[in-house]
Amino acid sequence: MAEKKAFVTGHPIAHSRSPKIHGHWLAKYGIDGTYQAIDVRPEDLAAFLGSLDKSGLRGGNVTIPHKETAFALVDRRDEAAEIIGAVNTLWLEDGVLWGGNSDWIGFAGNLDQYAPGWAANGPAVVLGAGGASRAVIHALKQRGVKDIRIVNRTLPRARELADRFGAGVSAHGAVGELLADAGLLVNTTSIGMHGDATLAADPGGLPDHAIVTDIVYVPLETPLLAAARARGLKTVDGLGMLLHQAVPGFERWFGKKPEVTPELRRMIVADIEG
Ligand code: ATR
Repeated sequence: MAEKKAFVTGHPIAHSRSPKIHGHWLAKYGIDGTYQAIDVRPEDLAAFLGSLDKSGLRGGNVTIPHKETAFALVDRRDEAAEIIGAVNTLWLEDGVLWGGNSDWIGFAGNLDQYAPGWAANGPAVVLGAGGASRAVIHALKQRGVKDIRIVNRTLPRARELADRFGAGVSAHGAVGELLADAGLLVNTTSIGMHGDATLAADPGGLPDHAIVTDIVYVPLETPLLAAARARGLKTVDGLGMLLHQAVPGFERWFGKKPEVTPELRRMIVADIEG
């Protein structure tokens, strides 16, 4: 059988860790396949997606800045992509280009692994109202979290999301007293990334049973997670979200559901810290 080929595209894409993740699984499961990073400029994305079949590519991942453009360009979308308004996984099926979103699966899978039972922990406070926030809110709703509080610097964006997700989701312009009874605090903004020492929110006001997680994973311990840990709270870093979101795509393109193992995590941690 012909070699199975998949890709990740973004702009820039050189620093993507996805080729390492999928390459690890391809080798581990002895699959005759490739997964390569392809840099595509925004203005070339439509032509690139139109040429997948001809290039022998079965599908791939799309990342910044293509997730919302790809959403508009695909022929069909899965339910999560429709709700979130962005795609991160593409696959061809009988000549039809499908777009799906597995970021929410990555978020839930990461907490399932490191904080089992998390969804029953009580109200959730979500910092940020962009694409990543939509994936997180979808995951929270899917897992039955009943009280989701979106906090965003630009309040109208939070309101837009609260309207989009409906019952149980509220919008706020500041954290204020929202943490006092919260069981989960999630940072979906880029605050804390690449050595930014700003605190996305002060976790000091959270109850003792609260879990704090960040979707930023460079550095692995963001200022928010460091402050939460110092306060004695359970923390989960964002790397697991990246690892778990990769699972559905790999299974579609290569026909094997891969495992997110400590060995895989160690390999990517070494890459981040190296
Ligand atoms: P993504 O798709 O990765 O979520 P995005 O759509 O650009 O990215 O959203 C970024 C989010 O981070 C937004 O909620 C943004 O707040 P605004 O809507 O007010 O812009 C938030 N964000 C980014 N930098 C921030 C900062 N320095 N302080 C507060 N919020 C910030």
